[in-house]
Amino acid sequence: MTSEEIRASFPILAREFNGKTPAYLDNGATSQRPKAVIDAVDSFYLNQNANPHRGTYELAMEATDAYEGARQTVAKFIGANFKEVIFTRNTTESLNLVAYSYGLSNVNAGDKIVISIMEHHSNLIPWQQVAKAKGATLEYMYTNGGNITDEEIEKKIVPGVKIVACTQVSNVLGIATPIEKIIKRAHEVGAICVVDAAQSAPHMKIDVKAMDCDFLAFSGHKLFSPLGIGVLYGKKELLEGMPPFLFGGDMIDSVREQDATWAEVPHKFEAGTQNAGGAVGLAAAIEWMNSIGWEELDRIESELYDYAWKKLSEVPHIILYGKSDEKRYGSIAFNVEDVHPHDTASILDADAVCVRAGHHCAQPLLTHMGISSCCRASIGVYNTKEDIDRLCESLLKVRKWLGYGA
Ligand code: ALA
Repeated sequence: MTSEEIRASFPILAREFNGKTPAYLDNGATSQRPKAVIDAVDSFYLNQNANPHRGTYELAMEATDAYEGARQTVAKFIGANFKEVIFTRNTTESLNLVAYSYGLSNVNAGDKIVISIMEHHSNLIPWQQVAKAKGATLEYMYTNGGNITDEEIEKKIVPGVKIVACTQVSNVLGIATPIEKIIKRAHEVGAICVVDAAQSAPHMKIDVKAMDCDFLAFSGHKLFSPLGIGVLYGKKELLEGMPPFLFGGDMIDSVREQDATWAEVPHKFEAGTQNAGGAVGLAAAIEWMNSIGWEELDRIESELYDYAWKKLSEVPHIILYGKSDEKRYGSIAFNVEDVHPHDTASILDADAVCVRAGHHCAQPLLTHMGISSCCRASIGVYNTKEDIDRLCESLLKVRKWLGYGA
């Protein structure tokens, strides 16, 4: 597919706001969905909808096949066994599942949990809660505004650490962490490593076996899929040893008046009726990505990211955040000097340029950076250089509109 064909696959990008199509640069918050995904979800509800795993009639079996087929597609996408793929609502639920099930069962008083200062709140607050509940301590790998150094990894991940939880790509800065080194070090000290792949899975090929991570979480909605479908990968032997997170229908083996036993993984962790339409949509999104291929996706996005960084750095009065020589993915954080980011985002909106402003659910990172909020442009494969040019042209207006003159 050419870049034009990729963009044309997303019907929403043809919508107009004040006579302008959107320069949608908020992919870190959620991506748009290609027509192929919308059609696949439509087709599921038009032709195959029933409750998976419940009925013995043909329609229900087709729904089960569609749901379990989606699991196989996801497993292949990340190099996992299908029994190691649990469907959840989103990354947040996946990480809470690990914290509440594995964390509460394996962390004890005096143990340490280590996370990075770049974590999104969803890979931070659950670990605060586990640490508080168990009398453990929560420690941070700091970045000094850039990436996590080897020294910081060795200093923080030491014997006594039980869990290391780290993002693969910062949702604010787009900086990729040295996740392989972090996983290796966690294993050397006897800890497990949980990877938040919410901001990496849409941008880079993930192979959970090559990474050797113990758990990995991502959301469908940032990966061209419907809202409300997420994934947790976990090593089978770990998942088998963990208690269920939610209790109810479909997660049991047998139930008596006072007791119950659990289904095998992954079903032990999928209580209640699942979002089968979402799972089908996620599988269609993966097929759509496969039809482009990782090499091409990476080529398009890398070129766009570098173009955006260069063009933004040429805009007067722009502050770009984060120092890193490592490759970055998706997000670029910035502010316009003397301007509140919400004002900047509102002025950009008048030109149908969509960026997020605020703390980006990463308040400890922003505090560490010495700011309380910033703007974030986050690119996706359907963005074009024209979107970036529109962002930069619109940014030139911001200080003028607010009376600074330039
Ligand atoms: N986690 C999403 C973001 O970073 C919502 O914007």
